[in-house]
Amino acid sequence: MVKRLEVESGGQTRRQFCQHACHAASLAALGVMLPGCGGSPTAPSGGANLPALPVVNATITGNAFTLTVDASSPLNAVGSAALVEASGRPVLVAHTAQDTFVALAGTCTHAQCTVSGFSGGDYVCPCHGSRYNTAGVVLSGPAPRNLTQLASAFANGVLTVSV
Ligand code: FES
Repeated sequence: MVKRLEVESGGQTRRQFCQHACHAASLAALGVMLPGCGGSPTAPSGGANLPALPVVNATITGNAFTLTVDASSPLNAVGSAALVEASGRPVLVAHTAQDTFVALAGTCTHAQCTVSGFSGGDYVCPCHGSRYNTAGVVLSGPAPRNLTQLASAFANGVLTVSV
């Protein structure tokens, strides 16, 4: 009777070597296929070609900020949207109808990136591509929750947002 010798150099059998090699290849493939799992809020991975929202600066006084919406504002037209940097806090504002605005906390619910993209009428997170509609509802993940809506009021061309 002939016994098959499977011992390779280093003490592994051919079968063990193949199992380890296949396992390593599988892990490498997963790393390529799931880039969003290892992403960082400070290292955007998917937003290089993403149309960016116009950025508007505002100052929070008390617990609110105001914006004048006139012909020079990027929020003047119905259908427009902007990222408001309100004393360093990101707030998304959309002009959804005549005299109607929707304000949302602009921090992505996935890994806390600032949602700064706007494509096809939806907000898009530049880090891993989560999409939200202008009401803050998640359209596609990995974001696990909707964006928080902020109270706002519009009168005499001035939008007031509570933060
Ligand atoms: S931080 Fe990951 S999708 Fe926004």
